[in-house]
Amino acid sequence: MRILVTGGTGYIGSHTVVELINAGYEVEILDNLFNSKMEVLDVIKELTDTKPVFHQVDLLDADKMNEVFAAGNFDAVVHFAGLKAVGESVEQPLRYYENNVVGTVNLLKAMRAHGVSKIVFSSSATVYGDPGVVSYTEDLPTGQNIPSPYGKTKYMIEEILKDICAADAEFSAVLLRYFNPVGAHASGLLGENPNGRPNNLMPIVMKVATGEIAELSVYGNDYDTPDGTCIRDYIHVVDLARGHLLALSHIQPGIAIYNLGSGKGTSVLEMVAAFEKARGQKLPFKFAPRRAGDLAEFYANPTKAEAELGFKTELTIDDAMKDTLRYLENHPRSAE
Ligand code: WQD
Repeated sequence: MRILVTGGTGYIGSHTVVELINAGYEVEILDNLFNSKMEVLDVIKELTDTKPVFHQVDLLDADKMNEVFAAGNFDAVVHFAGLKAVGESVEQPLRYYENNVVGTVNLLKAMRAHGVSKIVFSSSATVYGDPGVVSYTEDLPTGQNIPSPYGKTKYMIEEILKDICAADAEFSAVLLRYFNPVGAHASGLLGENPNGRPNNLMPIVMKVATGEIAELSVYGNDYDTPDGTCIRDYIHVVDLARGHLLALSHIQPGIAIYNLGSGKGTSVLEMVAAFEKARGQKLPFKFAPRRAGDLAEFYANPTKAEAELGFKTELTIDDAMKDTLRYLENHPRSAE
């Protein structure tokens, strides 16, 4: 099968490209390199013995996107490309709606124009908003109280895909709702290396470890959780990548929705402790006020993904910390 991976030089995209190629798929990448680097292509070559065809194309460039599809002869698309900084999306909603929603509409129009009718979409648990439970199943309502325009773009794209499937019986869409991706490829050659200031916990922990940031601010230690800090379902990025292969191998006409998580919750302090254990060194942190929009606790109920896709996480938080440190050692950074 020939797969176009949008956002394929990004963190989750590149790990998925490696797993796809090593599983025998032919892969091309479309990415605008806004939040990733061309050098990732050489790493993919090193890890798979194949350098994927790369198209530096923006989702908003409909003409260039059409040219890619005209030549590509793709069987399916795995769609990661999009802006994903939650805080930034609150400040720049129009940019996020245009890039993520209009960009995806452009992608879907190019797919239709060239007879590509299968898509695996990188969605997020944030589409559940605040459902009032901690263990998330796929039948929970979505679209209510989503705290950011970023999260609303994911919800809107899900709704667009549901409506396309309702109108076109041949169209196949799998919505993969991620929880919290962490970790890096075991080789230490591929990992999370966002341009600019990150928002997520682990890339910030990495910057504290390298001294680029003086100390970690733990946003709130007065939540109703065992240690007072927020609990999330951290899933190793390689497990997440493998979930995409399972989604592709089970894809069929209609809409399919899966939560991809470990099913276990881990607190911020437990993540700090796991990083310190892997590193053998303390990580400087302080308690800071709660961050607006944060929920105290949620994690995936992975029953459906296991039953229907055979998806089950294999890698642990400790694996994620060791792999993250190995990546850091290979990519030394220090405070300017
Ligand atoms: C995790 C926990 C923070 C930074 C977001 C998006 C979601 C998905 C995953 C894309 C929270 C705490 C964080 C820091 C901290 N992204 N934290 N200090 O908010 O669960 O989910 O990323 O799909 O859509 O909403 O992840 O990593 O930002 O935060 O204490 O410097 O770490 O308060 O409890 P989150 P996160």
